[in-house]
Amino acid sequence: MLSLVLLPSPSLRQKSKDITLPLTPEQQTFVDEMFIAMQTYDGVGLAAPQVGSNINIIVINTEESPTAYINPVIKKYSWRKEKMEEGCLSVPGVYGSVKRSITITVEYYDRQGNFINEVLTGYLARVFQHEVDHLNGVLFIDRTKEITKGQDELDKMLSKK
Ligand code: CO
Repeated sequence: MLSLVLLPSPSLRQKSKDITLPLTPEQQTFVDEMFIAMQTYDGVGLAAPQVGSNINIIVINTEESPTAYINPVIKKYSWRKEKMEEGCLSVPGVYGSVKRSITITVEYYDRQGNFINEVLTGYLARVFQHEVDHLNGVLFIDRTKEITKGQDELDKMLSKK
């Protein structure tokens, strides 16, 4: 089982790298392991740096099925935003409200190597933005103006060096 990288690990703050397509058999296995980790740790999404690999892969438990997004990029953000509470497997026990665009236009490759351009909205758009942040070394605690739960846990984690 892939283990979770937790705050304040410096690797969560690194910028991840694009991967070359098509995925190697090892990378396909890694995606499967990310699905398993997401399910086991009960996350709605997971980014590769959270399981120890600074490469541009995220997985999201969409309404249909667990989906992998390779080299994901957000091309457009809607002007309309909404605030919602978020948490993160790498920052356990901590929640905060984050303002994010309601609709985004994204580009990525699926795990078969097909290039996809699509518009995402609502909850999926939110999770996608959260996970892509991870690839840029950004965490939701950087974006929240209001920790709604777990301030003590957060202070404890941040005081660890
Ligand atoms: Co997260």
